[in-house]
Amino acid sequence: MTEALPEIDYTKWQAPGEGDVRSPCPMINALANHSILPHNGKGITKEMAVKALGAAIHLDSNIASIFAAGGVAANPDHSAHTFDLNHVNKHNWIEHDCSLSRDDFAFGDNWHFNKEVFDSVMAHYGTAEKTDFAHASKARYLRIQASKEAHKRAGKEFTYGIKECIMSYGETALYLNLLGKDGVAPLKWVRIFFGSPEEERLPFAEGWRKPAQPINQTLMNKTIFSLVSANEHKAEEATEVGVGTIQALKTVVESFIKVPSICTVM
Ligand code: HEM
Repeated sequence: MTEALPEIDYTKWQAPGEGDVRSPCPMINALANHSILPHNGKGITKEMAVKALGAAIHLDSNIASIFAAGGVAANPDHSAHTFDLNHVNKHNWIEHDCSLSRDDFAFGDNWHFNKEVFDSVMAHYGTAEKTDFAHASKARYLRIQASKEAHKRAGKEFTYGIKECIMSYGETALYLNLLGKDGVAPLKWVRIFFGSPEEERLPFAEGWRKPAQPINQTLMNKTIFSLVSANEHKAEEATEVGVGTIQALKTVVESFIKVPSICTVM
């Protein structure tokens, strides 16, 4: 059975109300806030998510299918064909340590927007008004180091291996491709998208428009390659995640979607 997608009106936005559920993902939260996905965040089928992501942000259906399947598989009811947004809060499934805008699982709340964490990440952009690969890459890497240190100080278990590394690069590549082109996106839009202040939405009123080119594997690989290349600490990171060489790190991270044996979800 095919399910119709509600007509997209990017100007429609409403904060989640009582009983509505949300996730650690700014994108699927924004789609629910815009009522492109159900506003209550519940009962989302794979087909609904793929259609919504294709129509709203021009995400290639192969990538969207993998994300959406990861969402459905996070439902604690394994016989279900839908997921609620809060199901994906499940730690070390898609959700992982070192998020750019959320605190880590060991510190309590791993899914609400966290201003302190996000501001610390944005601080790496200094006075810039737009992103670029060098700063985006640095902000990502330094967030990992800060998270690692915080876990060490608190004596908590920290998880950052190949899977988390792939997802972390992938998420930075996603926001850059969603909000800009060739790594350049207005930081104002980045803030609005992630939820600062208090909103997770597509910055339509500020001039954002759905990307003209699809966000597909080719674009993601190109972006991730640029992010890895711009990372001054790529050799340390390669060692840290246990792949040994920079080339191995690049190969693994560029596998973002393609290598189910390494990463079956994002
Ligand atoms: C059904 C589709 C999707 C699901 C189930 C999903 C799920 C998730 C989850 C669980 C996280 C948390 C990872 C973490 O701990 O940092 C996450 C993060 C993220 N997602 Fe999604 N996602 C989906 C689609 C997308 C799309 C299409 C985009 C962008 C175009 C996107 C952008 C992001 C970004 C930028 C983050 C990082 C947030 C942060 O680090 O604070 N997601 N996603």
